Amino acid sequence: MKLLVTGGAGFIGSCFVRMALRENRAAKVVVYDKLTYAGNLENLQPVARRPELRFIQADICDGDAVETTLRDESPDAIVHFAAESHVDRSIHSPAPVIETNFNGTFTLLEAARRFGIKRFLHVSTDEVYGSIEEPLDADENYPLRASSPYSASKAGSDLLALSYFTTYKLNVTVTRASNNYGPYQFPEKLIPLMISNALEDKPLPIYGDGLQIRDWLYVEDHCRAIFATLEKGRPGQVYNVGGNCSLPNIDVVRRILQAAGKPESLMTFVTDRPGHDRRYALTNEKLTYETGWHPEVGFDEGLAETIQWYRENREWVAHVKSGEYQRFYDLNYKSRG
Ligand code: NAD
Ligand code: TYD
Repeated sequence: MKLLVTGGAGFIGSCFVRMALRENRAAKVVVYDKLTYAGNLENLQPVARRPELRFIQADICDGDAVETTLRDESPDAIVHFAAESHVDRSIHSPAPVIETNFNGTFTLLEAARRFGIKRFLHVSTDEVYGSIEEPLDADENYPLRASSPYSASKAGSDLLALSYFTTYKLNVTVTRASNNYGPYQFPEKLIPLMISNALEDKPLPIYGDGLQIRDWLYVEDHCRAIFATLEKGRPGQVYNVGGNCSLPNIDVVRRILQAAGKPESLMTFVTDRPGHDRRYALTNEKLTYETGWHPEVGFDEGLAETIQWYRENREWVAHVKSGEYQRFYDLNYKSRG
């Protein structure tokens, strides 16, 4: 199978590409990525010499570039990861988030329809369900109640993708995963930011009371779920992908400090995020029932591997933290006190 992977130089997309090539799951992988601040060719370095890999630097909002790629490459499937993926950035600066996540997805869907692409897997998030009251878990029919520009842009693009199945019979499947963590994650999200600060003995900024709940999914488990969906998922369906690991943020931070051998005095409570969703929770039952997939990596194991990776890859961290990172860090955290 020949795959076109948008956002394949980002955190999850690059894990998917590395796995696809290492495990010989694809005959050819074409990565289509704009290389925004979050895209990094170093993430593909372990498979860079594989002849089955081609990299195209282009924007999913650029209809001509998308069409040229589909014409030249004729992929069997598009696996669509490319997105502006960070809630805090979407609050400070929503325009690029709407442009890439909604209009970019539209551009891809249109081209996929015109070129008769046989499979379109749209990678989405459990954040589209918004905050969920205890003791409920969202299934795929739960109402969409997105709170941030990021989650609203993802909810909109999910609906748009599904409309292409209903209206044009494009073979679209949507996955909605919970919070991912693992190696190569840009240190703006909770886990890599806390690990990276802890390793540098810097304060760990916890929003509000730190009792917000997220479900944590190891990135390789997420990618295995996407392979399972590509293989066995039904057209026009949505599949939740969760890690069966629900934790308050403060517990996650404590575990990071403990595993990294750093003191709890590094924890710092800062002003909360506007519109902060209190609790995400989802059920995997549909995906497990239909494909047999289930998460394999427990949180302690995944966290230990992730911390070890950040310890051993200080150069990667230094590269991604140079330049733009510090500007955003100051913008997001200085005003929080
Ligand atoms: P990321 O920010 O690490 O990577 C995004 C990638 O997309 C980067 O390589 C970037 O260069 C590329 N990109 C951004 N805008 C683009 C554009 N206009 N054209 C082409 N490429 C562009 O993101 P991630 O964490 O790997 O997330 C990947 C996908 O998974 C996203 O769709 C996200 O919504 C979804 N998701 C993420 C999580 C999570 O916890 N990170 C959880 C569930 C779902
Ligand atoms: P994040 O990794 O940004 O993912 P999302 O908002 O998409 O779930 O944040 C995860 C949780 O951690 C969320 O409740 C916000 C919180 N958080 C902090 O407390 N401090 C931080 O510096 C960051 C980045 C997040």
